[in-house]
Amino acid sequence: MLQPFLVIFLAACASAGTYKDRFLILYNQITDGNNGYYSKEGVPYHSRENMLVETVDHGHETDSEALSYNIYLHAMYGAISKNFEPFNQAWNIIENYLIPQTQYNIESYNPKFPVYSADFSVGVDPLHDELKATYGEDKLFLMHWLLDTDDNFGFGNVQGQCTLGPKASGPSFVHMGAGSVWQGITYPACDNFAYGGSTGFSYTSNIPNWHYSVAPDADARVIQAAYWASQWATRNGQISTIQNTLAKVSKLGDYLRYSFYDVLYRTVGNCIGTSCRPAAYKESAHYLLSWFIGWGGNIDSQDAYSWRTGSSEIIIGYQNPVAAFAMVNDPNLRPKSPTGRIDWQNSLIRQVQLYQYLQTPEGALSGGVTNSWKNVYGEPPSDVRANTFYGMFYENEPLMDDGTSDWFGMWTWSMDRLAQYYYITGDATSRVVLRKWFDWIYRHVTITDTSYSVPVMISWNGSLPRNTKPTVTFSGATFYGIASSLSRALSYYAAKSGDSRAKQTAKQLLDVVWANHKDDKGLYVRTDLSPFINMEQPVFIPVQDWSGTYPNGDKINASSTFLDIRSWYKKDENWSQIENFLNGGPAPVVDYHRFWEQADMALALGAYSLLFGE
Ligand SMILES: *[C@@H]1O[C@H](CO)[C@@H](O)[C@H](O)[C@H]1NC(C)=O
Ligand SMILES: *[C@@H]1O[C@H](CO)[C@@H](O)[C@H](O)[C@H]1NC(C)=O
Ligand SMILES: *[C@@H]1O[C@H](CO)[C@@H](O)[C@H](O)[C@H]1NC(C)=O
Repeated sequence: MLQPFLVIFLAACASAGTYKDRFLILYNQITDGNNGYYSKEGVPYHSRENMLVETVDHGHETDSEALSYNIYLHAMYGAISKNFEPFNQAWNIIENYLIPQTQYNIESYNPKFPVYSADFSVGVDPLHDELKATYGEDKLFLMHWLLDTDDNFGFGNVQGQCTLGPKASGPSFVHMGAGSVWQGITYPACDNFAYGGSTGFSYTSNIPNWHYSVAPDADARVIQAAYWASQWATRNGQISTIQNTLAKVSKLGDYLRYSFYDVLYRTVGNCIGTSCRPAAYKESAHYLLSWFIGWGGNIDSQDAYSWRTGSSEIIIGYQNPVAAFAMVNDPNLRPKSPTGRIDWQNSLIRQVQLYQYLQTPEGALSGGVTNSWKNVYGEPPSDVRANTFYGMFYENEPLMDDGTSDWFGMWTWSMDRLAQYYYITGDATSRVVLRKWFDWIYRHVTITDTSYSVPVMISWNGSLPRNTKPTVTFSGATFYGIASSLSRALSYYAAKSGDSRAKQTAKQLLDVVWANHKDDKGLYVRTDLSPFINMEQPVFIPVQDWSGTYPNGDKINASSTFLDIRSWYKKDENWSQIENFLNGGPAPVVDYHRFWEQADMALALGAYSLLFGE
């Protein structure tokens, strides 16, 4: 008679803490120095495998996305282990390597003329003066988005230096060149004309210069991570151990407001052609996390200049209501600038409204809105003009985006943030949007005990959200990070609403990903490298007859290929596989371990364990 009880008791024991245990297994694998996820400085690579080309031109390049996932991963570790020191360390990596200190001539920036445009009148920068008054400096405190982590190109654009060359070592600030990732000519963020052509990598200017680019979703993810760290540390009575870090993140969030501004600081709302006014003060704010912040200047002290700009392009995939909520409500994160909090308050309200606005009748969310139609303040069709979002125009496939806008992870990421926001606040609008979105998800996701399929690529047609039809163009198990972020969205939604199907689906996704992708280094995705045939395609030269040379002597001209300008690729321990393939052999098959995907799954496991105690 006792036996059934015993079985139930044992089963309960076996499942208690399963997801916490899995979090720790994965965390320990990721942070094990022998597993190759980090550079010697402790900077996470985009992936442990170097032979990878997607948003980066090699896997050991890295981006602000990876560093934002890194700090979020360590925040979760703090919640589970009650040790927040790794969280502080993850912030130090961001500050030491990704927030640039070299910003020549930034003092000569004039907020009345923030950026030059030949075609349009430009408004004023309403943030500079208060940020300078608050922090006592002109420099921007934001993450540049791209690092050549091991300085493979040899620019030596390391922290505090401008193109020191191959004798420097360490993570080097770089940019992607124009064209696809296979065509782009990677170039230094600070260009003193030491390499490249006679004017370095400046194709149209003969003045040595620098510039940085921000991917605002990554900076917002850092704020989100800090918010959770703040909550978890407070609960454990450990808040004092992370308050210095939180103050730095608050500063980052204060500067991140540059993403709220139109690219030319022109009035937001029905801004068409030259008749649209350059904005006075904050009329240029759309208050959403836009695609981009850029800033730069020249290097010489003669004719010193500096510029900065936000973006008019807004995609749903970048919005982060948790970050906005944190900047408004967490006393450790509230911005110090006088108008910082109200700006983030406006942002929070608008972001949630944008989710609602972009939802299609079927429940999927579409692309985004713009304040500059076709990037030239053009005139959209009449139905678009008649159905705007705060005077901004709907775009089902936002322009600025070379296909990223079709990758479904953008939706699971941003819906996870909305679900977390709903979990924190119980917001009724968010609940309605989530509920409808999950109904759409259930129709497009299949999970069995041994396999799963989630949308990977999606496209739309329609001129307005209400007549837009989404089409899933590719589904499968090729990105478990889509499944893990979807699981996290379901978990937060289920924890607040009590929805049992959401909880069950979240758990199934965690189990099936664990069963399908686990190996002794973490979680892998098996991928064949046939796209590497593009290594033999010519690069894109922006100006006819331009030619140049990289620090290692690699020549760049119209006949150079991706591989010609990256001869160091041949030093990869597995290069022979690619060589054989380029010589006509079969495409190699590689088990990729992307950093963001490891962290995303670890976060899903950790969240599930914290929310449900399983
Ligand atoms: C090289 O290939 C082997 C076998 O596929 C793999 O185990 C190893 O992780 C690869 N190394 C790198 C750096 O990608
Ligand atoms: C949009 O989708 C509908 C329904 O699937 C289809 O009939 C129509 O041809 C599509 N239009 C375009 C422009 O792709
Ligand atoms: C053009 O580039 C190719 C490959 O990068 C190189 O082999 C060739 O020597 C270059 N031509 C000149 C004239 O430098």
